[in-house]
Amino acid sequence: MTLATDDFLDIDDVTPAELDRLIDRAAALKAGEDGGSLDDMTLGMIFEKPSTRTRVSFETGMTQLGGHAMFLGPEDIQLGHGEPLRDTARVLGRYVDCVMGRLFDHADAETLAAYADVPVVNGLTDEAHPCQTLADLLTIRETVGEDATVAWVGDGNNVGQSFVVGAAMAGIDIEVATPADYGMDPSVFERAAAFGADVEPTTDPEAAVADADIVYTDVWISMGQEGLRAEKLDAFDGFQVNDELLADTDAQVMHCLPAHRGEEITDEVMESDRVLVWDQAENRMHAQKALLLELLGE
Ligand code: CP
Ligand code: NVA
Repeated sequence: MTLATDDFLDIDDVTPAELDRLIDRAAALKAGEDGGSLDDMTLGMIFEKPSTRTRVSFETGMTQLGGHAMFLGPEDIQLGHGEPLRDTARVLGRYVDCVMGRLFDHADAETLAAYADVPVVNGLTDEAHPCQTLADLLTIRETVGEDATVAWVGDGNNVGQSFVVGAAMAGIDIEVATPADYGMDPSVFERAAAFGADVEPTTDPEAAVADADIVYTDVWISMGQEGLRAEKLDAFDGFQVNDELLADTDAQVMHCLPAHRGEEITDEVMESDRVLVWDQAENRMHAQKALLLELLGE
């Protein structure tokens, strides 16, 4: 079976049943119980922003499936020298079997999908990071299970927005605490509500974590927001995931990484046995292999 969608630009491009199947398949791949392959297939990977996990997990995943992944940095290809994205998309679609894009503007991911005649996968935009959500849902299934309550504490950013929708699709209870000026787009809660989740965001991190099995955070200053650093550091005072915030809970801790220790999370928490972050990072590869097989494979 393959996915009904041609492209994967955000988590709700798939149905809840498809999402469940993707997580099942990711777990089977991780356990060595799925022999799917993408022999001779090539993934083109456009990176407008830096990456460790996304680049290495997609590239290694394609190698493990018998295919090949090609790193395309903006300075290396004509895209960074004036060639329009839609032309790049049309041309890449004539060579490769799938395009993964890590881009600033989410509309550019939509342009890639509209003009490339092959499946397009969002490897992070300013709005969404659905591949991270796949890995997160696998991590939650492996640990607390899907009757978990997860508290998102920090910036209402790309990772959080895809996670809230994906968690709603998986039946996970969600609490969201962000500073008032850095909340998620209201459409995120409408999308989550479409899957039965009633998320009421708060500006109180302690209230959000009180009943949480997992506390999830991400950087306060996302890639491209470096100019907002001073004002954001000020606004996020009190939102750090630290021993004090977690003191009355047994919550485990998730972070998509890279972590900025001393800002959104402390060194103590990162080095504690609460963190699931290394499993999250590993699960990127298993989840993306499942995604690529279902987008491109048998
Ligand atoms: N979590 C994540 O996407 O990490 P990278 O920026 O290293 O790819
Ligand atoms: N919110 C972060 C995620 C990095 C994987 C960013 O966009 O920089």
